[in-house]
Amino acid sequence: KPTKAQERAIVTRGGTVLVSAGAGSGKTKVLTERLMGYIKDTENPADVDSFLVITFTNAAAGELKGRIMDELAAALAKDPQNKRLRRQSALCRKAQISTIHGFCSGILRENSQLAGISPDFKIMESDRAGSMKSSALERILEKHYEQIDKQHGFRLLADTVGAGRDDRGLSDAVLKLNEQMQSHARPEKWAKEQITLLHTRFSSVEETPCGKEILAGAKETVNFWKSCFEDIIIRMDGDEKLLNSCGVSFGEA
Ligand SMILES: Nc1ncnc2c1ncn2[C@@H]1O[C@H](COP(=O)(O)OP(=O)(O)O)[C@@H](O)[C@H]1O
Ligand SMILES: [Mg+2]
Repeated sequence: KPTKAQERAIVTRGGTVLVSAGAGSGKTKVLTERLMGYIKDTENPADVDSFLVITFTNAAAGELKGRIMDELAAALAKDPQNKRLRRQSALCRKAQISTIHGFCSGILRENSQLAGISPDFKIMESDRAGSMKSSALERILEKHYEQIDKQHGFRLLADTVGAGRDDRGLSDAVLKLNEQMQSHARPEKWAKEQITLLHTRFSSVEETPCGKEILAGAKETVNFWKSCFEDIIIRMDGDEKLLNSCGVSFGEA
């Protein structure tokens, strides 16, 4: 039986739900129950293959698919005449329950012509991708070092970021930046924006991207504690003695 918090995550509709909890605390359970809730909805039932379910690893995707299959089988056992439920097991086999890589490669394969790539492309092993990246970077750095006297910007970069016994500091920084850029939808646009920010003068700390981030975090914390105090005052209601002795201080806080 789900806990109160789990129940809330399972039945909430019409918005975004974020569930963050430790290993083995029932996140997958919440996700499968939530999905089953949509599938078994009496008014507006959904088919299992109309959902996009994404996880990080193949193992987690496999486990999730298995658990959804089990839930469907259990629901069908309780209601064997239900034709809709019966169809869900078949639909589940081709449902989109996968890793983000699996999902994206599926889209690319289906639209290979549009993307201008072969439909039987393979995804490179990450070790091999890493070593190709390193050797490409090595070649580029080599080229720049050859002309370092003519490139003031590169010389500055090499003398600061790359300072040390070898140029590992510089390569590491470039690789790290490259990795971070890949998490943006349009890496090049993002990089250009960052460069503009570097040259922007802000009149106050609050205007800077970091300042905004810190202020938003602080605001969230203040609002959280404000709602806690309000909740405490409401709970004190009816208890004259408690309210008289502590009510004012909580109210002021
Ligand atoms: N409220 C609950 N009551 C009983 N068992 C639960 C409850 N929530 C989760 N479980 C069980 O705990 C185990 C771990 O849950 P799981 O969803 O796999 O956790 P997570 O995905 O967070 O690692 C599963 O066997 C699940 O059925
Ligand atoms: Mg899990």
